[in-house]
Amino acid sequence: MRAVEERLPGLREELELDFVVANGENAADGVGITPKLADRLLAAGIDAITLGNHVWRRSEIVPYLNGSDRVVRPANLFSNSPGKGLTVVAARDGTRVAVLNLMGSLFIDTPTSMWDVVDRLVEDARREAQVVFVDVHAEATSEKVALAWWLDGKVTAVIGSHTHVQTNDARVLPGGTAALSDAGMTGPHASVIGVQVDLAVRRMRTGLPVRFETASEDVRIEGALVECDENGRATACNTVRVTLG
Ligand SMILES: [Fe+2]
Repeated sequence: MRAVEERLPGLREELELDFVVANGENAADGVGITPKLADRLLAAGIDAITLGNHVWRRSEIVPYLNGSDRVVRPANLFSNSPGKGLTVVAARDGTRVAVLNLMGSLFIDTPTSMWDVVDRLVEDARREAQVVFVDVHAEATSEKVALAWWLDGKVTAVIGSHTHVQTNDARVLPGGTAALSDAGMTGPHASVIGVQVDLAVRRMRTGLPVRFETASEDVRIEGALVECDENGRATACNTVRVTLG
């Protein structure tokens, strides 16, 4: 949170960012997000927030999601789940950007396969916007790579989240879709994906319940920088890593 609030306004200028999407499902000290934290992220210069498997960890987000045009949860939850998985937000230059959040099924408890909903949602998105951004929140790179190929030429970018470990496969696929299997983590990297090392290791070594605490050292902002033309076709895709110390 502090890294985003301190550095994002400057990064928006430095990198000439027209639109910023953040996965915010770990904003509340590692799990979930609250309305206050979502508002702080939006005020810091984020245009749209996606979520993931921790979406309901803080129940106060439920009414907020129902009323928000800028915060989406995975589209493939239950049909009666609050909130929505697709939104359209104007970029700084006025371009309409559709933001779609999907969740994979491997090693995650996902009620509906993303493959059952993705085609209809992408059609809906493209009716409203030429630039379409997909956050695929999934554990397995195979699912994320497969989705990127399936959507190649249909959306601007398919960027993965959830593992907190940035992958080294940023690329533009032949049809003009930017893809990266995981954008990485904005948070403390001297950690086990954000958790204090000794606590995470103790739980893994002993199988005992250990209360996790968020680590604090080696804070970085990680992400992906996608460039596209006026038709929403990607022209470049690169990883971003900013070290704050
Ligand atoms: Fe996640």
